[in-house]
Amino acid sequence: MPVTESSIHVLRSDEKDSADPAFVSFAVPHEKDMTVLAALLWIQDNLDGTLALRYSCRGAVCGSCAMVINGDIALACRIHLRNLPAEVIVEPLPNLPIQKDLVVDMTRFWESWARVRPYLIRFDDMPEKEILQTPAQLDRIEQFINCMLCACCYSACPLQQRNPEYVGPAALAALARFENDSRDQRDRDSLKEVSHDSGMWGCRSIFRCIDVCPRNVRPADGIAELRTRALKDLLGRKKR
Ligand code: SF4
Ligand code: SF4
Ligand code: FES
Repeated sequence: MPVTESSIHVLRSDEKDSADPAFVSFAVPHEKDMTVLAALLWIQDNLDGTLALRYSCRGAVCGSCAMVINGDIALACRIHLRNLPAEVIVEPLPNLPIQKDLVVDMTRFWESWARVRPYLIRFDDMPEKEILQTPAQLDRIEQFINCMLCACCYSACPLQQRNPEYVGPAALAALARFENDSRDQRDRDSLKEVSHDSGMWGCRSIFRCIDVCPRNVRPADGIAELRTRALKDLLGRKKR
């Protein structure tokens, strides 16, 4: 099998000077199926063991290996070198502080996530077995359940770039998921918590979050659902 070579240019920075990153180039020989993640691990094993990156499953399940590859936000384990030009530019996710090389500090993303209480809230006693849902009820939340918390949407969102306080597409999609979940009993205050310009009303419907999501979650649709729900609540109150 013919071996070809790619030049992988990695934007690197160390913990002490992450404000001044610089590209470092590595020549990586490969056969037909090497992914960008495998190439980075090959660099770690053979050229520079100090290269820092995050990964776990290697199979597009865990969401750990999101980065920017030739300008596109993507999972490194899903992108094959054979589908890229010979020159490959790899950078860390935007909108999050760099810790080292391709590793970003996800704290802001997790804090946003926690703000929407992304779990089932119930006041009734739990049943002895599961709480059943109809297929139609599952349909309403299924795409949001597929989120793997990779932060691709968070990094692609232009509003997030301008306003780090923005709750963000993944967290708002998670709120839409629980608001729409037939088993959830949260009160309407959960909508009030994101009813501001750094929450659901901030989104400019640019849809970058939809473009980059590797799991076909459509966060902007969830945000639109939250807005519709909030407006219906408001109209309902005015009628009373
Ligand atoms: S649609 Fe909204 S959440 Fe999605 S990328 Fe655009 S501004 Fe961000
Ligand atoms: S919505 Fe999609 S892009 Fe955003 S964190 Fe979830 S899986 Fe990743
Ligand atoms: S390593 Fe898990 S998604 Fe890429």
